[in-house]
Amino acid sequence: MSVTLTFLGHAGFTITDGSHTVAIDPWLTGNPVATMKADDIKAQHIVITHGHADHFGDCEAIARANDATVYCAYEIMEFLNAKGYEKVQPGNPGGKIAGDFGWVAFTHAFHSSSFEGRYMGQPMGAVVNIGGVTIYHCGDTGLFSDMKLIGEIYKPDIALVPVGDRFTMGPELGKMAAELIKPKVAIPIHYKTFPGMLVDDISAFKPNGIQLKVMEPGATWEYGS
Ligand code: NI
Ligand code: MN
Repeated sequence: MSVTLTFLGHAGFTITDGSHTVAIDPWLTGNPVATMKADDIKAQHIVITHGHADHFGDCEAIARANDATVYCAYEIMEFLNAKGYEKVQPGNPGGKIAGDFGWVAFTHAFHSSSFEGRYMGQPMGAVVNIGGVTIYHCGDTGLFSDMKLIGEIYKPDIALVPVGDRFTMGPELGKMAAELIKPKVAIPIHYKTFPGMLVDDISAFKPNGIQLKVMEPGATWEYGS
């Protein structure tokens, strides 16, 4: 019952249980805080929350290099299929998809989703269960009260909460989100990447009763026993 998380910077992670690796929103090319390159990512599964380039930009290249299965919105599947990439598991908010590592369940998120001018379906959050550990990546989103329900349904061990403001919640609303979700651990994401656009100071992100784990880009953390 343990997993190792690697923070790729911005909103990207790889999560491994030792035999399977899931990448979520792995964006390295053009990522000003990334310490790795897209070529460095080794994963059999890629989960995409939405089509914006800072989440989806490297998906096709990483998927092809790894022959990975991509879990994403139906419209993102159509985009990948049109590029000739067929190893895709489409979903929509509320649905759950089983994989050999565990499962992915999509949630809603209040945001937008487009890539190269094309509509990419619903933006979503993703709950990933791997190695007996449940991780809720909120995606890019504003605050919504159903986060409490998502917490009750999936009981995530870890929540990855966007706190950079402007395009998502800022630190104060991120704190409220974490307190609605009630994970054991909250990790702030989607801040500091673009100076002047996303906030640097997330000192207000201190959810009550929840362990706060701040990860630097490139950092690795083992969770569980
Ligand atoms: Ni976005
Ligand atoms: Mn984003």
